Amino acid sequence: MPTPLDELPIRPLTPRDLLSCVALAVDRGWPPDERKWRLLLTAGNGFGIDEPSGAGLAGACVLTRYGTPGAGPGQELSAVGMLLVATAYERQGLGGRLMRHILGEADGAPLALYATRFGQGLYERLGFVTAGQNVTVKGRLRLSPSSGDPSPAGVTVRTATAEDLPAVAGLDAEVFGVDRTLMITRLPAFAEQLRVAVDGSAIIGFGALWSSASADVIGPLVARDTATAKALIASLADATHRPLRTDIDARHEHLLAWLKEQGMDAVLTTPLMVRDIPALPGDPERRYAPLTMATC
Ligand SMILES: CC(C)(COP(=O)(O)OP(=O)(O)OC[C@H]1O[C@@H](n2cnc3c(N)ncnc32)[C@H](O)[C@@H]1OP(=O)(O)O)[C@@H](O)C(=O)NCCC(=O)NCCS
Repeated sequence: MPTPLDELPIRPLTPRDLLSCVALAVDRGWPPDERKWRLLLTAGNGFGIDEPSGAGLAGACVLTRYGTPGAGPGQELSAVGMLLVATAYERQGLGGRLMRHILGEADGAPLALYATRFGQGLYERLGFVTAGQNVTVKGRLRLSPSSGDPSPAGVTVRTATAEDLPAVAGLDAEVFGVDRTLMITRLPAFAEQLRVAVDGSAIIGFGALWSSASADVIGPLVARDTATAKALIASLADATHRPLRTDIDARHEHLLAWLKEQGMDAVLTTPLMVRDIPALPGDPERRYAPLTMATC
């Protein structure tokens, strides 16, 4: 039987909804990452359901479209993130309604998301399948003296300049599988640090460090090989005194082992789920960490 909640409309969210989004996240025990929400609500498309009283949001979700919308598999991919329903309204169908709305907005584009245990069943019922997993590591990187400089011979890591951005966006498109210029061009304003690994004159990797409520997060992290990924991480870690977090693709076992040797702890494993594609496009060998799990 329909309930009054079924009648509540779903509306687009704008940066004016930032504080309501943050309040909703905090209600579910997620960090109050205002800057992340601002990025998502400008680069992506947010949707929300207002509480009947109008006091705040009962639910929200963000769809970020990459590549060329409407161009089909291989040319486009959309990321689903920040699906949240306030505890006062949970298990009454709002999460399912928001997801079905998102599927309509995606208009047939292949979809990817990282699923918490709360959302996994819902996503499976909507046709998502597990296609990998990420390991969240947290802590302080204490580079042991025996580890030496992790940079491979001939590779240097330096701060990215404006002139590097086209090459960074090009490398990202190769590795992610579709163009994400809309996100890459926002990184210098969003992140505290954006660094590139250079071999000769070629950019062979890049990494960003951005500030979350309880830690600085390393992501995205793209690198030619694990040694280059280590060099980028060491350089970014050197730029902060705060604890670090990064969400590493579980395939990169050597990097995960190294991070643990350097003092970080694996705290969570999160499934990656996809719909309408068998796996993420691009090059998993060079894709180490997403910007955030909400953007893939
Ligand atoms: C995940 C989340 C968004 C789900 O929202 P929700 O509004 O509770 O979702 P729904 O009500 O549509 O479905 C949730 C469950 O309630 C059940 N349900 C839906 N309507 C119901 C009703 N009227 N009565 C009883 N159960 C109901 C659904 O069958 C579903 O069952 P499941 O637990 O087996 O999957 C919510 O739990 C949440 O915000 N969690 C914290 C944040 C999070 O983890 N988000 C997911 C990110 S990947």
